[in-house]
Amino acid sequence: MSTTSASSAQVSLTGVKPTGEPHLGNYIGAIKPALALAQEYDALYFIADYHALTTVRDPQLLRHYTRSVAATWIAAGLNPDRVIFYCQSDIPEIFDLTWIMSCMTSKGLMNRAHAYKAARDRNEESGKTDLDAGINMGLYNYPVLMAVDILIMETDVVPVGHDQLQHVEVAADIAGSFNHVYGKDFKFTIPQAIVSDTETGRALPGLDGRKMSKSYDNTIPLFCSEAQLKKLARRIPTDSTPVEAPKDPDSSPAFQILAQFAAPEITAETRRRLREGGMGWGELKNQLFEVLNTRLSPLRERYNALMDPDSELDALLAAGAEKARKRAVPVLAQVRKAIGID
Ligand code: ADP
Ligand code: TRP
Repeated sequence: MSTTSASSAQVSLTGVKPTGEPHLGNYIGAIKPALALAQEYDALYFIADYHALTTVRDPQLLRHYTRSVAATWIAAGLNPDRVIFYCQSDIPEIFDLTWIMSCMTSKGLMNRAHAYKAARDRNEESGKTDLDAGINMGLYNYPVLMAVDILIMETDVVPVGHDQLQHVEVAADIAGSFNHVYGKDFKFTIPQAIVSDTETGRALPGLDGRKMSKSYDNTIPLFCSEAQLKKLARRIPTDSTPVEAPKDPDSSPAFQILAQFAAPEITAETRRRLREGGMGWGELKNQLFEVLNTRLSPLRERYNALMDPDSELDALLAAGAEKARKRAVPVLAQVRKAIGID
């Protein structure tokens, strides 16, 4: 795979909002499938730090999450030499183009955006008379900024979860509006969403058996310490079926997590022993800890090294921004020319 314009591969773009420390669910549902795209596409990955500003208001925390997400992706296998990996805020052209594209976006389209509608619904349910109470323009304009993230890199495909599908459709819509008026001088590529299998399938369960999610505070952080990992693995809920009794592996959150991280033959053997009886939940949780720890230890080491303030992380992101700007600068220049500002 190559990232030069001579490549004929289609372009994929993955954006990650730095709003927390990545957990096992993020790894299985988002990071692993997105990294696999680099086999097939000219792959771009970026940290959507300005997007996080709609919710993260603590500067230390925003800085920490941004570095943590960047370090996680590299530790998980992203090779910055083979893909383009950057921070959104390092690409000033994005914000220039955001104004231009907001002038191509009908207000009605933003009124229908689901995050905005959900915020208004919450106001209505709590009996507020001003349905826009507490809603900032960042939340309202969010889909335009996201559209520009996608369009400025001339993206063909965007891997997303169901919740982000509408945003990619909005990006295609806004690109269409621009192309309709200025298409003889410059045409944006119309992006398409791809929804990964894990998104359509079952989510990884968390410490209370519900979907592992920051919002439920039930996560196992991908790179917590070994001691913490052991403690958290033991906290996964189980019932009181005795050791000798047969058990249903697929209804056990610990088994579901194991199945995503263990080699297939280990998963098959554990499934057999649980079904037949003779394997207790305690043993399963010990096995889960061992499997996770063996798999994650080398990644954790790399993550911790990258999180050091003197690591190469900032230089890697700066080099990535330079590569990304090589794509963004000519796009903005052509757009400016097309609209009559050059
Ligand atoms: P959270 O629910 O912790 O806030 P996000 O909404 O930030 O996580 O999700 C980021 C990405 O990780 C999305 O693509 C989402 O589908 C994926 N993801 C999050 N939790 C899980 C899970 N439990 N199982 C599978 N994928 C998940
Ligand atoms: N909105 C996405 C999320 O909340 C993050 C994001 C921002 C993104 N810009 C993007 C994703 C562009 C894909 C492409 O998860």
